[in-house]
Amino acid sequence: MTRRVAVFALTAVLLAAQIPSFNFYPEFRRWWFALPAEQRRPLDAVIDRYQQRLGSEGVSADEIARRVNLIRTRRQELENDFWDRYFTTDKPEFNTAPNSFLVSVLDHRRPGRALDVGMGEGRNTLYLAKQGWDVSGFDPAAKAVALAEKRANELGLKIHTQVALDKDFDFGHEQWDLILLSWMPVNDSARIVSALRPGGVLVFEGPEAWFPPNGLLKDFAALRVVHYEDKVRQADFFERKEIPVVRLLAEKQSRVALLRRYVPACSTRLPCSSLRP
Ligand SMILES: C[S@@+](CC[C@H](N)C(=O)[O-])C[C@H]1O[C@@H](n2cnc3c(N)ncnc32)[C@H](O)[C@@H]1O
Repeated sequence: MTRRVAVFALTAVLLAAQIPSFNFYPEFRRWWFALPAEQRRPLDAVIDRYQQRLGSEGVSADEIARRVNLIRTRRQELENDFWDRYFTTDKPEFNTAPNSFLVSVLDHRRPGRALDVGMGEGRNTLYLAKQGWDVSGFDPAAKAVALAEKRANELGLKIHTQVALDKDFDFGHEQWDLILLSWMPVNDSARIVSALRPGGVLVFEGPEAWFPPNGLLKDFAALRVVHYEDKVRQADFFERKEIPVVRLLAEKQSRVALLRRYVPACSTRLPCSSLRP
């Protein structure tokens, strides 16, 4: 497929109508996330509560059954459609500028290969590309990814994208100099650690509420912490509220750095020169 045809196809995806039968889901999701923490799980209990609410509002039994069936059987499609709507609206309610923690991290880093996990509409993917990084990104929300491709094309930038969930994406082994999870949950930290090149870094920012105490640090205990903070600040998402936000910059140590830790002194069998990076 030529680049022009590919861009045309992507634009067609982008402009395609949202799924009307999913129209109820953004309101359901907002209501669900606003429940007190102890009522947000398990899903069955949430659905019971939702059914009662709809019943008391006079919604028909057929419509209640239709929504509940979709939530139970097509959650991932509902989520993808939610993020597609969220990112392609005329009135974005998230921070459309690149993530400020990522920007500060890149200040003193030589560009290499970067991966943006759960890239959304690509605000950070495009920023990385502008800074000279060879950047890949993926997300299951197809219209959001198409929007990122469209913008990259308009800006004359090259990015590599895939429509995929993290569980289906091939992270590879020792492939990336930087892996970014910006407001994207950590689902499999071991794969991320393995996918980083020695000397490569993980950059994470997201709500503290996603983790048990120090959970983010525990997830990435195999990496060397370069920077960690946990403080109340304006969120990039979550209606841009002031909430506790965690930030982590952590490095996969190079083999030489690891060796130095375990071999305290140089010797004739292991001269110091052999330990230089
Ligand atoms: C809050 S948005 C963050 C988007 C982007 N990282 C940013 O900072 O602008 C969360 C994104 O994660 C994506 N996402 C959720 N679960 C995912 C998964 N399992 N694998 C990949 N992406 C996922 C959603 O589709 C959504 O685009």
